[in-house]
Amino acid sequence: MPEPTHWAIEINGVAVGGVGVDLGEGIFAKSGQFGYWLGEQHWGRRIMSEAARAVSEYALSHFGLARLEAPVFAWNPASMRVLEKAGFVREGVLRNSVLKDGQLIDQVLYALVR
Ligand SMILES: CC(C)(COP(=O)(O)OP(=O)(O)OC[C@H]1O[C@@H](n2cnc3c(N)ncnc32)[C@H](O)[C@@H]1OP(=O)(O)O)[C@@H](O)C(=O)NCCC(=O)NCCS
Repeated sequence: MPEPTHWAIEINGVAVGGVGVDLGEGIFAKSGQFGYWLGEQHWGRRIMSEAARAVSEYALSHFGLARLEAPVFAWNPASMRVLEKAGFVREGVLRNSVLKDGQLIDQVLYALVR
């Protein structure tokens, strides 16, 4: 069975969010794409700060990665803060990289490297 790469965030037995990594292949074998979400009623309690720190460290060491990257919608400062607190560094802006609800959105690329 393949090893788990995505995990639920559980509060009182209920899954309220998720955090995980998509592992790269071929020339991207040392990179992972990092992502997460949390149900809105649980925002602002530093839950994702803790989860992102724990899972990013685990993913880098357990899977022997050299790089974890996380693109963030430019209007999402809370998510950028979560990444910065986990040691990720802002690398640049992926201009017009997403089309969502008819709007083109920039993403800010963050990465954590070893
Ligand atoms: C982004 C998200 C993961 C944050 O989770 P969370 O558990 O509420 O975050 P935390 O409480 O751990 O930390 C949020 C940090 O951002 C800060 N923050 C919150 N709103 C902010 C804002 N508008 N501007 C700047 N900073 C903000 C908080 O103060 C906190 O930083 P601090 O610990 O230095 O005070 C959550 O809102 C979410 O799941 N959103 C929807 C999905 C999503 O955006 N996923 C990420 C895609 S890249």
